[in-house]
Amino acid sequence: MAKKFYITTPIYYTNQPPHIGTAYTTVAADVLARYRRQQGEKVFFLTGTDEHGEHIAQAAQKAGQSPQEFVDKIAQQFKDAWQKLNIKYNDFIRTTDKRHQEGVTKFLLKLKESGKIYQDEYKALYCPNCEDFIFKKDLVDGKCPIHKKEPQLVSETNYFFKLKDFLPQVKKLITTDQMIIEPPERKKEVLSLLKQDLGNLSISRQKVKWGIDLPFDGEQKIYVWVEALQNYITAIGYENNPKQFKELWPADLHLIAKDIVKFHAIFWPALLLAVGLKPPKKIFVHGFFTINGQKMSKTLGNVIDPVYLADKYGADALRYFLLREISFGQDGDFSIKRFEERYNADLANGLGNLVSRVLTLSEKTEPTKSVEGQLAKEIKSTQEKYKKAMEEIKFNEALEAVWRLVGACDEFVDRNKIWELVKNDSEKAKKSLGALLNALKEIAGLLEPFIPETAGKIKEQVKQNKKSAVLFPRL
Ligand code: MSP
Repeated sequence: MAKKFYITTPIYYTNQPPHIGTAYTTVAADVLARYRRQQGEKVFFLTGTDEHGEHIAQAAQKAGQSPQEFVDKIAQQFKDAWQKLNIKYNDFIRTTDKRHQEGVTKFLLKLKESGKIYQDEYKALYCPNCEDFIFKKDLVDGKCPIHKKEPQLVSETNYFFKLKDFLPQVKKLITTDQMIIEPPERKKEVLSLLKQDLGNLSISRQKVKWGIDLPFDGEQKIYVWVEALQNYITAIGYENNPKQFKELWPADLHLIAKDIVKFHAIFWPALLLAVGLKPPKKIFVHGFFTINGQKMSKTLGNVIDPVYLADKYGADALRYFLLREISFGQDGDFSIKRFEERYNADLANGLGNLVSRVLTLSEKTEPTKSVEGQLAKEIKSTQEKYKKAMEEIKFNEALEAVWRLVGACDEFVDRNKIWELVKNDSEKAKKSLGALLNALKEIAGLLEPFIPETAGKIKEQVKQNKKSAVLFPRL
């Protein structure tokens, strides 16, 4: 039976349409999902939207719409954007879905049964944009360091989850790699977070109106983070499809960025342990990117729309750039200048030019299926490097390896002066071009997860031995 691979992205807030940051994680997950499908695995790729909470209700109010109307519109924008970027997800969960609300209700009742819930008075500073409490020591000039807004003083009676009781178990899961956290520096970060006094976790809100009812107290809504994390199980049938749930859970990979590590690596496994479910197998944390050196934010007006970029440069070019430019896991910078430079150098002059060059020559002859020693060696070593990089989620290294093969093919054409061989239609010309077409087919296969549309076009040209339109017109 095929191995299953259950991969998720965070579910994105519907207070604003998708931007290049949310596209980044989603493209990365899509590339991994496509790669695993190629390997013959039974992939389930989940993404979706996080639609409850105070800051979403506020955004709706600002837009003069009801929260439901507002989130319906934004959730659709996410779906449209992912379609534009060629994201092939298996399911899209919305936290306003009935299946989610029912699953969450069941989960909360189980949590209550566990005896790990208690009521208490809570008084703390709260940042509605983070949807999280914030410690005084973490404020910068009295403001939330991320949103640059003064937090609110919240005082209400909430229900709490005895998080502290589970922290030793969570720590053990991490140190023994039963729940892998990558890259290693993030694992260290979580372990040092666990040394701090995290307190217990407040799981409900009294004043919030836009959310899911706490099943054992109709006066309260479930804290949006507690509810949102459960999307990873409600989407696969925690409440309504036990067969599928058993097949897919635990998740093989939660892909997230560094801003939400605490929720995924500490709160989530603790909640799962409390209701007797297994923790996810792996959490991979990628970095954050800035735009021209600045943090992306609505206030700065530098939010980049992935749909605009895909319209202008093509979805494949955008997918390629996002994963090639910044080493996955590290922080990096996004700029249109770098995008255009890479587009011209790697896609137009590199890959596009090689395909057009080989096809122009091969069209003039009848290539024979053949393997050439040097190229075959290059292909084999590329496949090995690529596979290792993909298993380690090092996209840029996988792409670098493919581009070295592109370079080797160019060199092969030059070294053997194939354009002269073709003039006499020699046996050597036929064989050399056969070997080059074979290399192109390999390149297309390796690039399919990253640039699926282009990979399909290359395969078609090779099959027909016929050049078609330029893959990446120079800018
Ligand atoms: N709704 C929560 C997640 C709940 S998951 C159970 C949330 N949503 S979010 O819309 O703010 O999305 C955060 C995620 O978007 C990050 O973890 C990351 O995956 C992605 N990114 C948002 N901005 C980004 C950058 N500037 N750079 C890289 N990734 C970015 O948090």
